[in-house]
Amino acid sequence: MPARPCLVVVGSGIAGLIVAIAASSTHDVTLITKAELGESNTRYAQGGIAAAMFDDDSVASHIADTLVAGAGLNRLSAVEALCAEGPERIRDLIRLGVEFDRVPGGELARGLEAAHASARILHAGGDATGSAIERALVRAVRTTAARVLENTFVNDLVVDESGRVVGVEVVSAAACGVAGTITVLADAVVLASGGAGQLYAHTTNPAVTTGDGVAAAYRAGAELADVEFYQFHPTSLAVPGNFLVSEAVRGEGAVLRGADGARFMVGVHPDAELAPRDVVARAIAEQMAKQGGAPVLLDATELGAEFLERRFPSISQACRANGLDWGREPIAVTPAAHYWMGGVLTDDWGRSTVPGLFAVGEVACTGVHGANRLASNSLLESVVFAWRAVAVLQGHAGAGAARFVTEGWPDVAADAEGDSAWHVRALGDAPDSGLPTDRSDDASGDASDDAKFSRAALQQLMWNAVGVYRDAATLSAAQAQFARWQTACDATPAETITALEDRNLLLLARLIAAAARQREESRGAHYRSDFPETSTLFHHHQISARKAALPT
Ligand code: SIN
Repeated sequence: MPARPCLVVVGSGIAGLIVAIAASSTHDVTLITKAELGESNTRYAQGGIAAAMFDDDSVASHIADTLVAGAGLNRLSAVEALCAEGPERIRDLIRLGVEFDRVPGGELARGLEAAHASARILHAGGDATGSAIERALVRAVRTTAARVLENTFVNDLVVDESGRVVGVEVVSAAACGVAGTITVLADAVVLASGGAGQLYAHTTNPAVTTGDGVAAAYRAGAELADVEFYQFHPTSLAVPGNFLVSEAVRGEGAVLRGADGARFMVGVHPDAELAPRDVVARAIAEQMAKQGGAPVLLDATELGAEFLERRFPSISQACRANGLDWGREPIAVTPAAHYWMGGVLTDDWGRSTVPGLFAVGEVACTGVHGANRLASNSLLESVVFAWRAVAVLQGHAGAGAARFVTEGWPDVAADAEGDSAWHVRALGDAPDSGLPTDRSDDASGDASDDAKFSRAALQQLMWNAVGVYRDAATLSAAQAQFARWQTACDATPAETITALEDRNLLLLARLIAAAARQREESRGAHYRSDFPETSTLFHHHQISARKAALPT
């Protein structure tokens, strides 16, 4: 019997688990996950998963809502794939054992979230959709032949002389140090390692989200896209840990109030509390600034304690744990980093610009979300594009997937200053990138405490300077600080997994700040207070890329 091709999958959220489950019939799969199987961003998803499953809804309407939220930067082919294939992928999840909530007659229950024209959000366990999906998929992957390496950190991708990714370099947490690095070779690697919420002082994401996959892909020579677009969820509990308070709560009728008790979203947007996420997050930040930084209030009291407990058991539990009774009193909420629209540039089939390397889920940028993701499209994105990547790996993706599909992306091979509508801006190590290779100018002679790196300081600076609001002066000061920290970090070898994560976070902070500085407009989740309008001059994606792959 011929040997089966080897596939390494990095990450065990919904995207990685689907790839591992689906590919295990044809491939020798190794699934590598940084913590325990089951720990991922997916597990914490509350609101649900959107798909046009109901008779009074349509794929066209789901596409339209996704495009409006995306503020002109969505790639249409990716959006069409997402919305058209979504319903079948939901049926796959049900076949794999996911038990979505149902109404008494047995039909799927449906919720409404901001900027959706129709109640098309499926949920499970009330507000525990991600954990229900994760549990079912972990059970399913355990029944396959996939080898699972838990508590194993992917430090870098292995690239051969031709520039092809041929494996990963991993560090076992048990080894407690980078001395234990080993190489796992593969015919292909699928990154499904999620986002980088840990870049920010306030995030709804768990501790594992340090952007390791995006950083490793960048070092391996893969192009990244749209990294300046980071979505801030409007409502997280204003307590340490920023527990997510689902948009579905506002979908059910909860309202936002200022410290004076007045609703402030009415008058900001015709849809008030159900305006697109970026609009609500900015309005909250503005209201907080007016109140001297005090959080705003989410008032769900009209919904009644019994309903809240039944429909939102996880949030109810988090409120109780923090001494809050949201059935009786409004709760204090604040925006928090939630989802990264940018990531490893891929086509509609999960292929990155580097042969042998795929990316699916939040780690990827298919362009499906444009400048701002529509609520509950992220779990759907993961499952749709995971199946598509597997179709390519198994050779049944059809003629449409015969080559890397660049439509809607800048011509990745084009001159960096091409003049098409999808204009390529070379960031990364290009001389004009704001990410200098020679850092001596920024860092020279600085011996102050500023040069001492800490993750907490990085997160605070990202929150203050590269957060909900941005402007040139603040971004540029942040870039100078990042450069000083880079100099300090370069002088110290990374000897622990935490230090390797820090190295990744700092790289990504620099790339995001550089891209945010170059985009002199406001669009979707990227808001420049010095350029508050959307500009046709910036109706393009920005690419972050090294000039060449790093030698391995
Ligand atoms: C939420 O429940 O509000 C989060 C849903 C999402 O981010 O898509």
